[in-house]
Amino acid sequence: MKKVQAHYDAVAHIYDRRYGVGKGSQYYAHLTRQMLECLDTKGLLLDIGCGTGLFIERYLTQGSEAIGIDLSRGMIAHARERLPESDFLVGTAEALPFRENTFDSVASLLTFSYIQHPEAMIADVHRILRPGGTFALCTLGKNLLTSVIPALYWIGEKMEVRKIGVGDFDERYYDEDEMEVLLENAGFTEVCVRRCSFAHVSLASPIFHIARKMEPFVEEKLPYFAYNLCASGKKPG
Ligand SMILES: C[S@@+](CC[C@H](N)C(=O)[O-])C[C@H]1O[C@@H](n2cnc3c(N)ncnc32)[C@H](O)[C@@H]1O
Repeated sequence: MKKVQAHYDAVAHIYDRRYGVGKGSQYYAHLTRQMLECLDTKGLLLDIGCGTGLFIERYLTQGSEAIGIDLSRGMIAHARERLPESDFLVGTAEALPFRENTFDSVASLLTFSYIQHPEAMIADVHRILRPGGTFALCTLGKNLLTSVIPALYWIGEKMEVRKIGVGDFDERYYDEDEMEVLLENAGFTEVCVRRCSFAHVSLASPIFHIARKMEPFVEEKLPYFAYNLCASGKKPG
């Protein structure tokens, strides 16, 4: 956990260049849209691994109130700067410091792969949600890209590549069935898991646009080539 925290502290000042502008922002908007479709945007939201607050900023265009939690003090500092009216705390997803039945919805984007005890975290999310509340997450799924990531990132770390997310962090990737079981075993109902996004943020511009056009086809017919999984579930009311 310390290694992930140190990494995001070190890249916090450049994080928004990846997802907050240009094609990165277009890609991020695509993920966000899918998350917002799953969440109830009324009431209080918790964003786990909120980073610099990009998702909360988009959520607040529809939703009312949000709190963010993140391991990295550096990322949280940027989130506070972006959204001074919202509450942000430094803390881990693996020990959520909230009372039961606190939130109307919980979201987590691009963070779940770092979680070392996913069953415990999802059980904790269920605990802090109000009855009837929804949980939605978006994370890299098990696919062609993620099958090579551990080796690439290991090499990247040895070569001291300073890029967002590059490092040997023991990340975990899930397929649709594994994700569904995780949510159902924690007590969530109305569980929905689907592949999302083929146009990867790192693709050069013309290829990105072609990939973006192909996304609906890939997500439906060739899901193993879509990078992310979006999953959601409801705490029974
Ligand atoms: C790729 S960034 C995603 C940030 C943000 N969710 C977004 O969509 O831009 C991953 C974030 O997860 C955070 N993170 C990783 N492990 C965590 C944990 N166990 N608890 C809380 N945050 C964590 C990192 O500090 C980092 O800010």
